[in-house]
Amino acid sequence: MRILILGSGAREHAIAWKLKEEIGSNNIFTAPGNAGTQLCGTNADISVSDFEALSSFCLENKIDTILPGSEEAIANGVRDYFESNEDTKHIYVFSPNKYAGQLESSKAFAKEFMQKSSIPTAAYKSFTLEQLEEGYLFLDTLKPPYVLKADGLAAGKGVLIIDDIEEAKRSLEDMLVNQKFGTASQKVVIEEFLDGIEFSVFALTDGENYVMFPEAKDYKRIGEGDKGLNTGGMGAVSPVPFYSSSVHEKTMSQIVIPTIKGLKSENLNFRGFVFFGLILVNDNPMVIEYNVRLGDPETEVIIPRLKESLSQMILDSQNGILKSRDAIKTDEHATTVFAVSGGYPEKYNKGEIINIATDCDTLFHAGTKRVNNGLYTNGGRVLAATSYGDTMENALESSYELLTNISFNNMVYRKDIGQDLRDY
Ligand code: AMP
Ligand code: GLY
Repeated sequence: MRILILGSGAREHAIAWKLKEEIGSNNIFTAPGNAGTQLCGTNADISVSDFEALSSFCLENKIDTILPGSEEAIANGVRDYFESNEDTKHIYVFSPNKYAGQLESSKAFAKEFMQKSSIPTAAYKSFTLEQLEEGYLFLDTLKPPYVLKADGLAAGKGVLIIDDIEEAKRSLEDMLVNQKFGTASQKVVIEEFLDGIEFSVFALTDGENYVMFPEAKDYKRIGEGDKGLNTGGMGAVSPVPFYSSSVHEKTMSQIVIPTIKGLKSENLNFRGFVFFGLILVNDNPMVIEYNVRLGDPETEVIIPRLKESLSQMILDSQNGILKSRDAIKTDEHATTVFAVSGGYPEKYNKGEIINIATDCDTLFHAGTKRVNNGLYTNGGRVLAATSYGDTMENALESSYELLTNISFNNMVYRKDIGQDLRDY
């Protein structure tokens, strides 16, 4: 296998790190990559959606497999592009095509899919501009808080949770009439609020069979105690203490298996990853959202726990011999804590020099760049410090220890990752 990974985050570094052990760094390429993926193979300075440049690069470098890390290239149709081109159709793009990618890129599409397959999720209705009045009436039938979601991709900002009914109506108007989130909010999903604790599970699938990856919980807010603005993710843990065998069983029978069956019965021609964003409500898992890729920072804790070969699973899916099962994973706990640039997720500096006293191969890079021999910050989220331990507490202790080795100007991290889970 000669693989091109698309993306430049710590997720892509963790994937490249895993594949390097399996197929060697000569066979690993990342576009555009970062200073971490550079340690696992070759970086190509090409944007994930510049399909023309990516195909020339693939042909020149005899790439046979592409793994998109983030949703961007999938939503822009990377698989459709490579499949529709004579020169590149032999390349195996391990992701859904653009149509099936709507499981992530359209909330209305995903909700309809769940409804057809009787998958537990919040009750909802979707509305367009012509249905604004009906939207107001639907809001009147719900109890606060009100959940309003832009249908399309809005960089994690398209979900509003509002206590006041009048404000909810104004926001609906803002989304539909004033296109608050651009074309992403031409359609709005309004749904019932679910009160519970969130976690995620991940399946690698060929559209018919699946391998379950370890579960994880991420921390999205910038501030301790889950306060402040949403970020791309400040840390994650795996396993999840409240993911008991009974929750696992319900997750499999009520959510994962019906989803995989639905992919086939709806002829979605799906392959790649399904990321189930779940919430546990009175001990019953329900789907908040699907993504069609792995999560970041969840990947930085689930990939290190995966004992099986990822490249083999991808090959098995290509050859139609993937067997449905739980992946073999370590009993160890893995945790990751993100060091971010002060000011993130708002304004922050780039180009700060990074000092790493003692490196560790599970220090996954996100916004980093190597210039000559120096390592510099190149984004909001900079480094994900992943560690193992026989308990979550021990793993966290090592992640925090690892962070004491790192410094750059205005480095910030949350000191409370996993704290809320200690009592489970
Ligand atoms: P989504 O982009 O759909 O994952 O939503 C972003 C975040 O909003 C989720 O991670 C939840 O924290 C929250 N959220 C979304 N839908 C609901 C809901 N129906 N009830 C409660 N919280 C929700
Ligand atoms: N950690 C959430 C995501 O990757 O979307």
